[in-house]
Amino acid sequence: MFQFKLVLLGDSSVGKSSIVYRFVKNSFDEFRESTIGAAFLSQTIKVKESDDGEETVIKFEIWDTAGQERYKSLAPMYYRNANAALVVYDVTQQDSLVKAQSWVNELKNKVGDDDLVICLVGNKVDLCDEDAEDNKRAVGTEEARSYANEQNLLFYEVSAKTGLNVQQIFQSIGEKLFET
Ligand code: GTP
Ligand code: MG
Repeated sequence: MFQFKLVLLGDSSVGKSSIVYRFVKNSFDEFRESTIGAAFLSQTIKVKESDDGEETVIKFEIWDTAGQERYKSLAPMYYRNANAALVVYDVTQQDSLVKAQSWVNELKNKVGDDDLVICLVGNKVDLCDEDAEDNKRAVGTEEARSYANEQNLLFYEVSAKTGLNVQQIFQSIGEKLFET
């Protein structure tokens, strides 16, 4: 079995813990408490090893960091030696994308992107409905996608609440890690 260390980074309340809980326990909590320090969870998935359909099990050791500013200095402890990083923003908060971009810069400076698979994740797409009067989207899909392409990041828009695309994040990271 292959083991990979994965870290989540991003502003407070963008939904990092909610994404992890959806992935690991397939559950969602409207009133999740803000993470203190960091939390550790693990989960295994199967990835296709070759075109003939052979599958390999990989285990993610997941460090869910706290986004509050006072914990910022702890982050290097968690992204050091990481194989993958989810850099999460909230599609309804433009500021959270700016924060995500600064995490991407820090990762590239401190870890280097040869060794690290980075996935940019826009969460809370359930709050977006282009046709509704109360559409809460503040960050356009194409804006984020073109930034991700420029920086050579994987990119997903997801909802921890509905589960949309959450499994796919980890699946595509797993495949990418397995390629390298
Ligand atoms: P810190 O631990 O402080 O860094 O925050 P976090 O990034 O872990 O955020 P958390 O998962 O605690 O979620 C913050 C709030 O957003 C909670 O009230 C969640 O219920 C809510 N939330 C998370 N994901 C979603 C989502 O996909 N859709 C909606 N509508 N709300 C979400
Ligand atoms: Mg949290």
